[in-house]
Amino acid sequence: MTNPVTAVIDPATASAEIDLAAFSRNVRALAGHVAPAELMVVVKADAYGHGMMPCARTARAAGASWLGVATPGEARVLREAGDTGRLFCWLFGEDEDLVAPIALDIDLGVHHPAQLSRVVAAAAAAGRIARVHLKIDTGLSRNGCPPVLWDDLCSDARAAQEAGAVEVVAVWSHFAAADEPEHPANPMQIAAFHAAVDRARAAGLAVPIRHLANSAAALGMPDARFELVRVGIAAYGVDPADGELAEQAGVPLDPVMRLRAHLIATRAVAPGTAVSYGHRWAADDATVLGLVPLGYADGIPRAASGWGTEPGASVAVAGRRAPIAGTVCMDQFVVDLGPDAREEAGDEVTLFGGADSPSASDWARVCRTIGYEIVTRIGNRVPRRYSGGAQ
Ligand SMILES: Cc1ncc(COP(=O)(O)O)c(C=O)c1O
Repeated sequence: MTNPVTAVIDPATASAEIDLAAFSRNVRALAGHVAPAELMVVVKADAYGHGMMPCARTARAAGASWLGVATPGEARVLREAGDTGRLFCWLFGEDEDLVAPIALDIDLGVHHPAQLSRVVAAAAAAGRIARVHLKIDTGLSRNGCPPVLWDDLCSDARAAQEAGAVEVVAVWSHFAAADEPEHPANPMQIAAFHAAVDRARAAGLAVPIRHLANSAAALGMPDARFELVRVGIAAYGVDPADGELAEQAGVPLDPVMRLRAHLIATRAVAPGTAVSYGHRWAADDATVLGLVPLGYADGIPRAASGWGTEPGASVAVAGRRAPIAGTVCMDQFVVDLGPDAREEAGDEVTLFGGADSPSASDWARVCRTIGYEIVTRIGNRVPRRYSGGAQ
């Protein structure tokens, strides 16, 4: 049994507004920027919280020749919904069924000779040739074939290819610090990648496709683009490096998710009024508080709380910024609307992603995390409402 359908918040009360037209523009801009390399749009983790199927359809319509996901389960959902294009997945456990993904024409990442053996067996069971992408660890030390096993993996893959079990379509790897363009790991990883491709070719593999770049590298490292790039966060309009890389690359990106809610209540309070759990914030002067019906159960980080000594994140309300007052709770948080506020229950606040609102990167800075986490963690209880694009 899998999770039952989650009960959601009334979309009038709070929602994540997903602008698929913006997503489509971002995908087109990125495809143009990286050409002649092809673009894989990464739609794992429910398209970074934006909703996998609407984003996948929109990405295809905007010209993404590849989609990428982490798990075979995600890939299967795409196939079952009718996606027929090139589709790559790279993360599966020892006991996972690989027959179904091969039967569904899904390309698999392979990072170990033992894993290749499993793919070969699964290909035989599926009665198909499995398309594989061999992953070399160039320095992330996460997955990827350890360099000492690379020659074995390549020679096993060549043998499996000659036996008609697999087709090795690519060699690939992943950056550790592409969001820091000056980081010394970047040139070292590119050099290690070239060396691994050379060794694969020396082992008799053609390696028609090489892919290494994520969003940051696709934007800022032309020598890492090769034949294919795997772009996630930039397609969702969030800069991979705190608002700097896309602008430097001259690629306009628009936020795709706008997280908004109606105020549930407002109230005028006297100086000294303490607010929310732990009483970690108190009004210096008379002010007006607003109640926002989203909390950490919905992915609002508790680290965004506004405590006396540590200011929290802000929301946008009627063209102004209103800081979070006190601790973010499970379902709600309070904002300080200021002494002259005229807002009342039912008025709109934008948490992030609006034209004149904070960005996901602004929230990430306050919460000492990355924009990726801010958008991806928005919970299932928050309804997604779509506009534009291929829904
Ligand atoms: C293997 C792999 N490739 C590509 C991506 C896309 O990265 P980004 O969202 O930085 O473009 C990810 C995301 O984490 C990934 O794990």
